Amino acid sequence: MKRPPRPQARTSEASPTLSRRTFLKGAGGVAASGVLAREALANAEPSGPPRADAEVLEGPVEVEFALNGVATKVTVEPRTTLLNALRVHLETPHTGAKEVCDRGTCGACTVLLDDEPIYACMTLAVRAHGRSVRTVEGLASGDELTAVQREMVASDGMMCGFCTPGFVMSMTACLEKNPDATEQELREACRGNLCRCGTYPHVFEAGMRVARGGAR
Ligand code: FES
Ligand code: FES
Repeated sequence: MKRPPRPQARTSEASPTLSRRTFLKGAGGVAASGVLAREALANAEPSGPPRADAEVLEGPVEVEFALNGVATKVTVEPRTTLLNALRVHLETPHTGAKEVCDRGTCGACTVLLDDEPIYACMTLAVRAHGRSVRTVEGLASGDELTAVQREMVASDGMMCGFCTPGFVMSMTACLEKNPDATEQELREACRGNLCRCGTYPHVFEAGMRVARGGAR
């Protein structure tokens, strides 16, 4: 997947481009804002107070990332979540990731950051700088759905559908890494996704049909 060009050094202009160095220097402060990948959450050390040398980002900042393989720029306040950047601030809004709880409990906002599932509502957009972001919009190729998407339809894996993009992204990430995943592994991969309509049996039936190879 093509990455955007290396970021420029931050300037003092009104819309500074965020450099990786600037971002890393500010990471202590960012971590204190609750930005953690779901995988990291399980192993996270207490983040503690921001580092004394943490640089405070003053907005707006320009964030560059590969969105579904396309070099993308968005200018946002440093406090903007990735979910809001995707849904509201892009020139072409990407609304596939859903805003449901907006507090890291339901998984409806799940996207893949460098192929790892994360809660986009709990991730600052600046975290995506220089990285790859994949959303549910990037899965199908024209009218050609992925196996996970096809099986979600065939297995009747949705009712209201608000949770569906999140489950699809979590199962996609799991099956890309482990195409022969067991049902337990699929359930583990989706442990951060909630379905209020209770379609879990159908969701995992879909995932297992892909894992068993019948739907590839
Ligand atoms: S909207 Fe992000 S976890 Fe619920
Ligand atoms: S289908 Fe309604 S929340 Fe899952």
